[in-house]
Amino acid sequence: MKAFLCVAPILGAALAASSGDFTVLSMNVAGLPAILNSNDVPGDKTTNAKLIGSFFAQHNYSLIHAQEDFNYHAAIYSTDTHPFRTATSGGVPFGSGLNTLSNHPWLDFRRVKWDTCSDASSSDCLTPKGFTFMRLALSTSSTVSTYIDVYNLHADAGTLDADNTARQHNINQVASYISTWSAGNPVLVLGDFNSRYSRTADTAIRALLSSPSTSLSDPWLLLARGTAVPPTAESLCANPSATNYCETVDKVFFRSSPLLTLTPTAYEYVGGRFLQPSGDVLSDHNPVLVNFTYAAGVSLQQSNLHGGPHGNWFSDVPVLSGVRAGVKVIAITLRGGSRVDSVGVTLSEGTVLRHGGSGGTAVTLTLGVGEFWTEGEMCQAQKGGRTRVFYIGGRTSSGKEVQAGTKTGECVVYSAPRGWQILGFLGQDGDEIDQLGFVYGKQ
Ligand SMILES: *[C@@H]1O[C@H](CO)[C@@H](O)[C@H](O)[C@H]1NC(C)=O
Ligand SMILES: *[C@@H]1O[C@H](CO)[C@@H](O)[C@H](O)[C@H]1NC(C)=O
Repeated sequence: MKAFLCVAPILGAALAASSGDFTVLSMNVAGLPAILNSNDVPGDKTTNAKLIGSFFAQHNYSLIHAQEDFNYHAAIYSTDTHPFRTATSGGVPFGSGLNTLSNHPWLDFRRVKWDTCSDASSSDCLTPKGFTFMRLALSTSSTVSTYIDVYNLHADAGTLDADNTARQHNINQVASYISTWSAGNPVLVLGDFNSRYSRTADTAIRALLSSPSTSLSDPWLLLARGTAVPPTAESLCANPSATNYCETVDKVFFRSSPLLTLTPTAYEYVGGRFLQPSGDVLSDHNPVLVNFTYAAGVSLQQSNLHGGPHGNWFSDVPVLSGVRAGVKVIAITLRGGSRVDSVGVTLSEGTVLRHGGSGGTAVTLTLGVGEFWTEGEMCQAQKGGRTRVFYIGGRTSSGKEVQAGTKTGECVVYSAPRGWQILGFLGQDGDEIDQLGFVYGKQ
């Protein structure tokens, strides 16, 4: 029992908000050095960038993805007030121009460079363009937490053969990353795709919709066009655009998961909200605004994620979403020593879920009939400069306990919501457990 009595305060805990709404904005901010590209936008680029930042703050969008945020980045951030913002990767030719401004914190931010670029019709190889990944924490608590894997990207421009080839490769690179790193998770991808459904060569955006490994949807199709079927006829947008029916190259894709349902409720081009006092635009792209509601899953939910962003992503969600109602954990098997080597459960219908390596000493707790795994504790600390999971403890509905690893000063207890149980795990692993969260299912 003692293991569960001396517990550090919940880190970053908030009241469980397992449903709510948020807004996302994708905007190419036309921040190439004026000497290289005016973007056909009149006015001084620093002055314009400050105005863009002040509109970001005024409209208080929950999550903003900026592309081409190169040499006027500091001016945008000087007037914006979002509490969570990525550090710039640099101006031209050092940075990717991709940044995120958010009202929500995130884990595991990564910048990934494109494998392919083409200078056929514009200087796409001038800067290390690519995409970013982050696990956005919509809400965290000691029971249910809600996360979305969020991607920002800027794909190769131009319509010559080499541009088309590079661009499809870029978008397929993101799709492949999603299938590995976002397995089981809800996903949002917003950025400058430089793609239109109406161009037959732009096959990769259609594949995002149709491929089972990404299973994404486009809120523009659903809300502005009232269909899931991409158009073949071209319909270019004015800037600003008075209609949402036209198609832009700046796109938003999303998918729900058993852990979280995402529902787009509004789609709008908001160039009219980003104007200079003269009435001129601030960017040559229409910014895209999408409103979403979210709700934690009805049959699976998750705890907060604990530990560090090392190792490979794993999730029991795809397996657990396929098991019948009434399944429960009949055995918990943990391996540990100085840290946690592996975590595993055996389900009542026989499935064994196991993650991590084979080091350490194994301990197994067998659960009785009507006994559920309802509470877990995790401790983290650093080893070789990397945050890992040092301790895991489990407690059942009848008060039986099991633990592995070594306690540290950073421990958190997680409880399944009332009527729910711990059924599996998600996180990142290698030889040991680097990052860990619990997957809850109904009892
Ligand atoms: C922006 O919205 C968040 C909720 O998403 C709210 O907590 C915050 O106070 C708002 N900020 C401003 C400056 O209005
Ligand atoms: C979308 O959300 C924004 C910000 O909360 C709000 O101003 C706007 O009215 C919403 N749009 C619709 C159509 O609901």
